[in-house]
Amino acid sequence: MITDVKDTCRLYTDLAWLWPLWGDASTQYAHYGEHVTGLVRRHARRPTRTLLDIGCGGGKNVLNLARHFEVTGVDLNPAMLAQAKALNPGCRFVEGDMRTFRLGRRFDAVLMDDAISHMSSRADFVAALRTAHAHLEPGGVMVATPDVTTETFRQNRTTTTTAAREGIDVVFVENVYDPDPADEHYETTVLYLIRDHGRLRIETDRWTMGIFALDAWRRVLHETDFEVHDSSYVVDEDAYTVFACIKPA
Ligand SMILES: C[S@@+](CC[C@H](N)C(=O)[O-])C[C@H]1O[C@@H](n2cnc3c(N)ncnc32)[C@H](O)[C@@H]1O
Repeated sequence: MITDVKDTCRLYTDLAWLWPLWGDASTQYAHYGEHVTGLVRRHARRPTRTLLDIGCGGGKNVLNLARHFEVTGVDLNPAMLAQAKALNPGCRFVEGDMRTFRLGRRFDAVLMDDAISHMSSRADFVAALRTAHAHLEPGGVMVATPDVTTETFRQNRTTTTTAAREGIDVVFVENVYDPDPADEHYETTVLYLIRDHGRLRIETDRWTMGIFALDAWRRVLHETDFEVHDSSYVVDEDAYTVFACIKPA
């Protein structure tokens, strides 16, 4: 277990205002939204009108999915939900923890995207997928996309992203590192260089992410009572396995 440095998750709290600058919702996320929509339409055994986005963050996926579905988003952090609401005024957003929340209703489709990476233990990972199952109608489809798996993880990978808006210039430096590849978590560290009209501010952030092998994903999905179909999604040099998971009728 990693214990020396505490998780801060500032990107979802006091630095959440930076989230809109890290990846453009209407361009970078649009293609993925079409991929998700295609999988839902292809695999569903019922009409698909409603969709639940679990860990919706700043609502970038919601923006694109709302073209096809009536979308509800759930997230743990109010600052991220505020971003999501500003971007998607017509959608419904609820505060909740994916390990435990129960909305008391079911949806035709569920998206479990990058937020599940924050499930850094097997118990939390299983609990989050049970939440997804509990909110899906029989014959509906959950789309789950592991951000990284044991197979795709690249030790010490460091990416730099730059963005600018209204006098603010930001550099995001993101590093991933797994001190113990035998366990099921790794660490993400982010350095933010924020220039507000030229004045530099340097901030740091850090969180622990879960990492599971593709076979572990498949096993847990089967045990959660999903029928699982693998597909692949490629963006730039990265190939992602995307699971289309049907809840048996
Ligand atoms: C990378 S962001 C998701 C961005 C999102 N895909 C979008 O379209 O903007 C990850 C999100 O996971 C959320 N999160 C982390 N742990 C969570 C939990 N236990 N339950 C619900 N949301 C959680 C964070 O608050 C954060 O907003």
